Parts: sequence; C-alpha cells; structure tokens
Amino acid sequence: MSGVTVKARAKLNLSLDVLGKRVDGFHDLRMVMQSCSLADEVTVEPAAPGDYLAQTNRSYIPTGDRNVAVKAARAYYAALGREGGAHIKITKRIPVCAGLGGGSSDAAAVLRALNELEHGALDEAALHSAALAAGSDVPFCLMGGTALAEGRGEILTPLPPLPETQVVICMPSFNCSTPELFARIDARKSRCRPDTAGLVAAIEAGDVMGAARRLYNVFEDALDRRAALAVSSLKLCLLDNGALGAAMSGSGSAVFGLFPDAESARRARDAARSLAREVFIAKTD
Ligand code: C5P
Repeated sequence: MSGVTVKARAKLNLSLDVLGKRVDGFHDLRMVMQSCSLADEVTVEPAAPGDYLAQTNRSYIPTGDRNVAVKAARAYYAALGREGGAHIKITKRIPVCAGLGGGSSDAAAVLRALNELEHGALDEAALHSAALAAGSDVPFCLMGGTALAEGRGEILTPLPPLPETQVVICMPSFNCSTPELFARIDARKSRCRPDTAGLVAAIEAGDVMGAARRLYNVFEDALDRRAALAVSSLKLCLLDNGALGAAMSGSGSAVFGLFPDAESARRARDAARSLAREVFIAKTD
C-alpha cells in the first residue's frame, strides 16, 4: 500500500498565560493559538505490527519512541484497539525546540494520515484523545486555524480565523528548556498577564491591529538574561521595521511579528537576519 502525505503547519502563540500548577504536574494554561503556513511535510506508510520508525532530514532528531510522531502512531493504534505499525518520513522546515509546535504538528499529521489509511476508523473525539496522549499541543495542531486553548492546551474553543496576515518568524541561536521555564514561572509571585479577553474580542471583530497590540507571552518574563536580551532585540527589530506586534511563541525561543503587508514583512526579514540563526516569512493559515 502506498503512503499518505500531510502538511504539518507550525503554531504561533498569540498569547500564553500560565494559570497554575496542577496535581498531575502539568500546568493549566490559557493561550490563543494560530496556525501558520510554515510547515513540515509528513508521509506515513503502513508497516508490520510493532514496527514504528520516524525518519527526518535532521540527524539529531530521534527516530524511535522518543519522537512524538511515533508516540502519536502508537496512540492511534492503541485507540483503534489493534496492533499496527508505521514508517514515517518527515521533511522538517519548522525549527526544532522553537515553541512553534513542530513536533506536535508532525504528530497531528501522523494521526490524520493514519486515519486516512484506516478509512476514517477513528472519529474526531477519539483522534483528539490520541492527540492528547501524544502531547499537550497536539490537539490544537490537529484542529489548526485560530483557537483559544485551555487546560493542558486540549480544551479548544475555535475562534473566527484571523484575516490572512503576514508573519515573520525569527529563530535565535539558542533553545529554551520548557520544564525550566515552567519551574521559574512557579517560583514567581506576581507577573503581568496577557489581555486574553481583549485579544479574543479583537479576533472576533476581525481586528488584526487590535490583536497584534495584545500579543503577550508570560514565558518572556521567565527567560534568563541572555535569552531575554536576544528576544527583546528581535522584537524591537521587528517593531522598528513595521510589525503591528511581536512576541515569543510558546516556550521559545522563536520570536514572531505580524505585518500589515508583504513589503514590510520582507524588510523586517532582511533586518532581522543579522540577529537570528534563521528567519522565515509565512502567513496565518
Ligand atoms: O505535553 P508535552 O509533552 O508537550 O509537555 C512537555 C512538558 O511541558 C511537560 O512534561 C511539562 O513539564 C510541561 N507542560 C506543563 N503543562 C502543560 C503543558 C506542558 O507543565 N499544560
């Protein structure tokens, strides 16, 4: 049987708030998520029962059970209640450990591809549960678009799609540790919070400018000095070059800005190149 190929789009956090630590060790979050056109390509072929493998064009990415795409494939067949196997090929374009949900999006793509190969054997609710078993951001990546995400990230309220907007995404030369950032947030007393209600209202009104003004990520306040400096320099560069708003995505270290047109996005990309390891132009999608 031949394989199925699915696009795996990156996610951006238009906002990210940490509400508190839970008894299960995870944190309750409130985030506004947006998928964008920067994407990996994921091809899945059925394999012999128990045979799971994920190969990518990045040699440092694990190919076995430590790869979230393999976790998703195992969760798919666990939900189906029978032995399965999958050979997964991923062309990575989304930077790794960037806060852009690259791995989560690959995992969601695997679930979609397997369900196509299995002729829609799982319904959306079962796919959603398999997605959460693979990782907290996988349910949003399965859905895509614009959404409010709560709980671990799996309680999703779809929002009207943001009018198509140009995005510049910058990847600094360092990665952030997600558990470390959560630990620093836990240790802090008070902090600024995003105006999630205002952001949601702006999105519901189709007001890109209002949404861009409210981009906010509490993890930016928990960065070490070096990372905080790099992130704020990148944000300043994007804003100086026409961004309507800029923020770090997820637990970083990618920084993005929303732009009113392609021309200003290109100008900002060129300006940000000296400050970042990689810079991408994409659009909300
Ligand atoms: O669910 P996922 O595997 O993506 O989570 C990675 C890590 O991020 C978790 O082990 C946990 O430390 C942290 N996390 C959290 N609360 C969430 C999501 C992630 O504490 N809602």
